[in-house]
Amino acid sequence: MRVNHVGEVCAQALYTAQAMATSDSALRAKMERAAREETDHLAWTRSRLDELGARPSLLNPLWYAGAFGLGLVAGRFGDPVSLGFVVETERQVEAHLQGHLERLPAGDHASRAIVAQMKDDEAAHALAAQQEGAVELPGPVKAAMRAAAKVMTTTAHYV
Ligand SMILES: [Fe+2]
Ligand SMILES: [Fe+2]
Repeated sequence: MRVNHVGEVCAQALYTAQAMATSDSALRAKMERAAREETDHLAWTRSRLDELGARPSLLNPLWYAGAFGLGLVAGRFGDPVSLGFVVETERQVEAHLQGHLERLPAGDHASRAIVAQMKDDEAAHALAAQQEGAVELPGPVKAAMRAAAKVMTTTAHYV
């Protein structure tokens, strides 16, 4: 759940940075709407962490800063690429959450409900970004994103 919380910290940073980067006000409004759902996710994962007596990642300021920088970089490539980055990010998060659902104890209904709802929301975010005109990112970029996500999830598991 700490890893999921870090993911949502990063989602805040990414959407905020990408909303700042676009010059299309309609797109900015849509990104801000997605960011509000990510704020819900952030709150759910945080309160579940508290219920479980676990602490959030100590590195959250670092995750936020890194994701914010990435969001700005993606934004500089223009809206279609920026949206492509959203699509790929949300897909990878969705896949991660699916994996987490499979590992979560069947009896942990509270965690399962949170993860399942977030997974649905992330899929909707990916679809929305796709409909806004996202381009498919090149394979090596996707692979680099997966590698970065792996470092993040592995580290956040412990710290
Ligand atoms: Fe989320
Ligand atoms: Fe999302």
